[in-house]
Amino acid sequence: MIRRTDQLHLGAFLANSGHHVAAWRHPEAQADASQDFEHFKRIAQTAERGKFDALFIADVVALWGHHIDALSRTARGEHFEPLTLLSALAAVTDRIGLIATATTTYNEPYHIARKFASLDHLSKGRAGWNLVTSVVSDEAWNFGREQHVEHADRYQRAEEFHDVVKGLWDSWDDDAFVRDKQSGLYFDPDKLHVLDHKGEHFSVRGPLNVARPPQGHPVLVQAGASSAGRHLAARVAEVIFVSHHDRAAGQAFYQDIKDQAARFGREPDAIKILPGITPFVGRSREHAQEQYEALQALIDPVVGLRLLADTLGEDIDLSGHDLDGPLPDTPVGQRGSRRDQVIALARRENLSIRQLYLRLAGGNPAIGTASDIADIFEDWFQSRACDGFNVFFPTFPGGLDSFVDQVVPELQRRGLFRHDYQGRTLREHLGLRRPVNRFVGAASA
Ligand SMILES: Cc1cc2nc3c(=O)[nH]c(=O)nc-3n(C[C@H](O)[C@H](O)[C@H](O)COP(=O)(O)O)c2cc1C
Repeated sequence: MIRRTDQLHLGAFLANSGHHVAAWRHPEAQADASQDFEHFKRIAQTAERGKFDALFIADVVALWGHHIDALSRTARGEHFEPLTLLSALAAVTDRIGLIATATTTYNEPYHIARKFASLDHLSKGRAGWNLVTSVVSDEAWNFGREQHVEHADRYQRAEEFHDVVKGLWDSWDDDAFVRDKQSGLYFDPDKLHVLDHKGEHFSVRGPLNVARPPQGHPVLVQAGASSAGRHLAARVAEVIFVSHHDRAAGQAFYQDIKDQAARFGREPDAIKILPGITPFVGRSREHAQEQYEALQALIDPVVGLRLLADTLGEDIDLSGHDLDGPLPDTPVGQRGSRRDQVIALARRENLSIRQLYLRLAGGNPAIGTASDIADIFEDWFQSRACDGFNVFFPTFPGGLDSFVDQVVPELQRRGLFRHDYQGRTLREHLGLRRPVNRFVGAASA
């Protein structure tokens, strides 16, 4: 295989006191980190010092689980709204990209187009939108529905939602706002475009009341892995987050997406595929393993079981089963591809319920010295299983600090990662083209 000469792209997953479900209980954790802007500021600035492409914030528009016995033992009962937090972080950072999650299932395209265009302006071209179709069914209850929208319908809506948002971002030519005091002309009417969209799910006239974003369009991120999810990703995504734990599955996904994208006339380089990885960096392998086990030991079984049940499907109750016995057959729910991956993992490795929830809680761990972790990054990257990683730090700030101080320099030494930002926008960090306005050259409003 030809050795790649491009470089890794790294996203830093921002989560209260850490990504690990027991992170808030870690002796060094700030238990109330979720409410402390100074905490997030410090994380963002450290990730920027580490030259990360972007910060990423996940989102659920509900409590992340309705089983209060388990939820009350996690830090998941509260999190800031991502666009609000990223807007504040835009003011205390300079270069790092800012990717927020927003669902197409319980939003309207005009709101989303407007918010991300605003974040792109506020941050001078650093915004990204992680387009999701809502993985947590409880969200339905907050938006006038008894039941979650079906998986296939969610994706149909998402496809149209996306097209409307992109159309709204093209409401203005890049140079529409002349703001000429002399002539008294604020904007050039010939450079204003009305979308006039009428589709199956949306009727949106436009135009948007925010100028065209500095990046043309904020970067489009997607994380669905079902066939409907892959279709959308191959057609529109510029960054894809995935959750593969083994390299072969990563390679197959990578090839599939890049092949599908070619059928939409897209270049393979126009999509960056970033699997999640949870690094435990130690002075030695033993030290790293100790850190991993110390965190795993803090997982309450009530929380572990719920984590597993939530991944498997709606209201699956595993409490009557022996924790050290095999996973029983579970009914098919509306959860999507993640469920299938988890069941396949349990069967393949013959894991007990307890082992499976510990595995899930540990994420996709990379445990070792900085050099061991750099080896994994290099191996996946060079074997075209990915274009970089979305890094899930088990704890904040410790997990991020050790990565930035130890792993990043090792990646830089190997020529795998930038020593400094070359551009100013998230698109530039990712090596993505700035989209042209679809209306340029066409008749104006
Ligand atoms: C790294 C990663 C982050 C995700 N973040 C969110 C999120 O914040 N909110 C959400 O509702 N879904 C999230 N998802 C779920 C997916 O975007 C997708 O909606 C879900 O997996 C169902 O689609 P699928 O069946 O195509 O996989 C995430 C998935 C991955 C891999």
